Amino acid sequence: MNEIDGTSFPTCTKETVTEMQTTERMLPPDYPDLMATAVQAAQRAGETLRDYAKSGFRIHYKAAINLVTDADRQAEECIVQTIRHAYPSHRILAEERGQDGTAPSPYQWIVDPLDGTTNFAHGFPFYSVSIGLEYRGQCVLGVVLDPVRGELFTAGVGQGAFLDAEPLSVSAIDTLDKSLLVTGFAYNIRETANNNLDHFSHMSLRAQAIRRTGSAALDLCYVAAGRFEGYWEVTLSPWDMAAGIVIVREAGGRVSGFTHEPFSLYGRELVATNGRIHEQLLAALRRHDAR
Ligand code: IPD
Ligand code: CA
Ligand code: CA
Repeated sequence: MNEIDGTSFPTCTKETVTEMQTTERMLPPDYPDLMATAVQAAQRAGETLRDYAKSGFRIHYKAAINLVTDADRQAEECIVQTIRHAYPSHRILAEERGQDGTAPSPYQWIVDPLDGTTNFAHGFPFYSVSIGLEYRGQCVLGVVLDPVRGELFTAGVGQGAFLDAEPLSVSAIDTLDKSLLVTGFAYNIRETANNNLDHFSHMSLRAQAIRRTGSAALDLCYVAAGRFEGYWEVTLSPWDMAAGIVIVREAGGRVSGFTHEPFSLYGRELVATNGRIHEQLLAALRRHDAR
């Protein structure tokens, strides 16, 4: 088992990663119902977040700069209840409660009820609900809702990616020099040298510009929508990425770690691009490896 931020989940050994790479990402047979459930859960959570944003909420500290609010917990409750009601035998890995259920199942939902908690807590209107689904160990479905703008991003393996009903596709820009990139920083930024600050300053001189929005799930959707050319981060959790990586891939983009090793959702590092600048971004990040 592995542990991220106090949450346990299965570790990906080299063998399982290789297996994941060779196992085809398969659309589950009941995909339309799974997608409908994910969308319903995201919308309920989005409504909860909008209500809390209006009425106010308590802020608790998980660590010096790592917050959680009543809204995170209540939104997660809505999502878990919706999924459990529809699929009582499925496993759920959710940020605030950890792993729910130990019985084996080919299905595992991966939930970030509020991605962008710091933004939310400050009233900065950029945050999202992120719901991904692993089927037989592969991410196959992703739903990300921006409850402020009402933008719903969805994708399923082989089904394409959509913003509401509109198909999404990544941008055509093919040089780093002309790329708008986005990144983020983990809550352990003060405690580790692997805190992305070196990459951030280096890439600021290589790209057209860099943004830091505070919601990894939306960053990924914005790559899928062609609003950003690329994104990287060095210390992510599965719930930050599970939905977004399906959306990026289905929009024609590419996701990887920092090396050419097979990508693992449990590997913490992520590089996601329109595909065209992927090798350039990897090379630039590697040339300036902060670790
Ligand atoms: C955070 C956001 C942020 C990213 C951090 C995440 P949270 O998630 O996605 O953009 O830079 O690494 O932890 O805590 O707001 O759900
Ligand atoms: Ca998150
Ligand atoms: Ca969160």
